[in-house]
Amino acid sequence: MEKIANCLNEFLSDLNVYFRKVQNYHWNIQGKDFFVMHAKLEEYYDELAEQIDEIAEHILILGYQPLGTLKDYLETTKIQEAENKKICVDEVLKGLVEGYTHLLEKATKIKQEADTQNNYATSSLMDNYISEYSKKLWMLNQSK
Ligand SMILES: [Fe+2]
Repeated sequence: MEKIANCLNEFLSDLNVYFRKVQNYHWNIQGKDFFVMHAKLEEYYDELAEQIDEIAEHILILGYQPLGTLKDYLETTKIQEAENKKICVDEVLKGLVEGYTHLLEKATKIKQEADTQNNYATSSLMDNYISEYSKKLWMLNQSK
């Protein structure tokens, strides 16, 4: 069980750092698609905020402690933060595809680990994430 809690804390760290990255994109994106992308990025980080809360509470439900500090998140995640500067739409799309690909791989890994331990609550929870990230990646790749 502890292995799943560790994987979920990695996922929680990814989600927190990715949330910050997507809101940074929302602030700094520029180009002719600004209005559409600015609004879409807000939709994305609002979803990520809900996912952060759901995963932290799921770790508590399993009887473990969710990481709660930015220091922990930065030390644990492999997602790179965005910089403090303007960014074009193409670079944002590239960053989003990378980010959601990483999250999809993490959710899939957690499901596989949960299945080996008959942890149905975690396994079924990951189904939603896998579907959501797969759909996001399809849409993002359509817009390239
Ligand atoms: Fe805003």
